[in-house]
Amino acid sequence: MKYRFHKGLKVSAIGIGCYSLSGVYGKKDPDEFQQMIRIAHKSGVNFYDTAGSYGELAEEVLGNAVFPFRKEVFISTKVGVQDDGNFDLTERGIKSAVERSLKRLKTDWIDLLQVHFDDPKTPVSETIAVLEGLKREGKIIQYGVGHLPISRVKHYLELGQPFSLMFELSPVSRSARTRYFPLLETKNLKGIAFSTTGRGMLSLKSIPENFPPGDLRNIDPLFHFDLRRSGLRVREKMEEIARENGKTLAQVSLAWVLSHPQILCALTGPSTVSHLAENLEASEWDFPRENLEELEILFNKEDARLTRERLETASGILGGSIKGKDETSDLIYALDTLMELEMVPEKDALPYFLKILGMEKLSPEKKSGLAREIKEEIRQFLPAS
Ligand SMILES: NC(=O)c1ccc[n+]([C@@H]2O[C@H](COP(=O)([O-])OP(=O)(O)OC[C@H]3O[C@@H](n4cnc5c(N)ncnc54)[C@H](OP(=O)(O)O)[C@@H]3O)[C@@H](O)[C@H]2O)c1
Repeated sequence: MKYRFHKGLKVSAIGIGCYSLSGVYGKKDPDEFQQMIRIAHKSGVNFYDTAGSYGELAEEVLGNAVFPFRKEVFISTKVGVQDDGNFDLTERGIKSAVERSLKRLKTDWIDLLQVHFDDPKTPVSETIAVLEGLKREGKIIQYGVGHLPISRVKHYLELGQPFSLMFELSPVSRSARTRYFPLLETKNLKGIAFSTTGRGMLSLKSIPENFPPGDLRNIDPLFHFDLRRSGLRVREKMEEIARENGKTLAQVSLAWVLSHPQILCALTGPSTVSHLAENLEASEWDFPRENLEELEILFNKEDARLTRERLETASGILGGSIKGKDETSDLIYALDTLMELEMVPEKDALPYFLKILGMEKLSPEKKSGLAREIKEEIRQFLPAS
């Protein structure tokens, strides 16, 4: 295992994430997961990521797994999302979430506490004061931020001293490079990358049209419309690079993420020992320069094409001429597109995402009625043609 350094800490280039224990990628076996973590530790992995909002299992399995060697590993968990899905970064909310995480993780300290999502109702100054206080008490060692609108990230950087920024990065999800990298470079920060094999887009044997019910990928924009088609084209190129170099698709994907020196740790989320072994090999291999250059040419083409095609698709969805598999995933795709193209600020998009996700609980008639209303409201963000 190769290691990277930041603010005096030596962190394994590959870290393990426990998100899949929440069931987003289908049901996983907690016993096998625990065994996978112990083998990861033996193989040199010292960074493990989870979150309060991933559910009890995702913290408890990690806590149990690393209990015998707790001092040798860094545990990262996250605060800010309550069990009912509401955001809470108040003093009370953070403190009670931290106590709950410490208990579930069977530990007295959290190495990295990450602000998971934004809570627009709570001033950043209040959140920072609590995080700094927790550091002084020794309950957390460092804090970081992830999933926040860029304006909010800048506010955290002005008022506090985050250790890291967390964002998605893989060959099929590249926007962090333009959005967050400039900040990393000017503020002595490092990035923690997640979904480094594209939530399966760059690791599964084939990409199904539909995932089993309850699997997050049924509504993840990456698996729909133009993003899916672009992802499959990138996958094809990555497969070619993998063949040329005698590697697997997951390995070249992880090695591509690690080719960026801005990244402290590439998180991967295998639940099986065999996927773990495959992924860990990636840290030992340097992505060849000529392949990196070939990929940049492809990415430039894909980015230009996606900007055009995604806007057409989003306009079609919101105008009623394009219908995908389901109203929820269609609306998420349209809103995500407008956000990525900076046509709607992230802070204004968030309440809509929550409304769209809430549609799932409604009867089919009510769902369609609300979908129509949301479409009309979001349409106002489209540029006048
Ligand atoms: N996803 C997010 O929104 C998010 C946000 C913030 C932080 N994180 C953190 O980042 C971690 C990693 O993100 P992620 O879980 O989305 O990453 P990921 O590794 O891209 O996706 C996990 C999925 O990929 C599969 N997989 C991994 N390696 C594989 C391999 N070699 N061959 C075939 N399938 C493979 C896993 O299947 P198996 O279960 O079959 O191994 C699992 O279904 C999370 O666990 C979490 O701690 C994630």
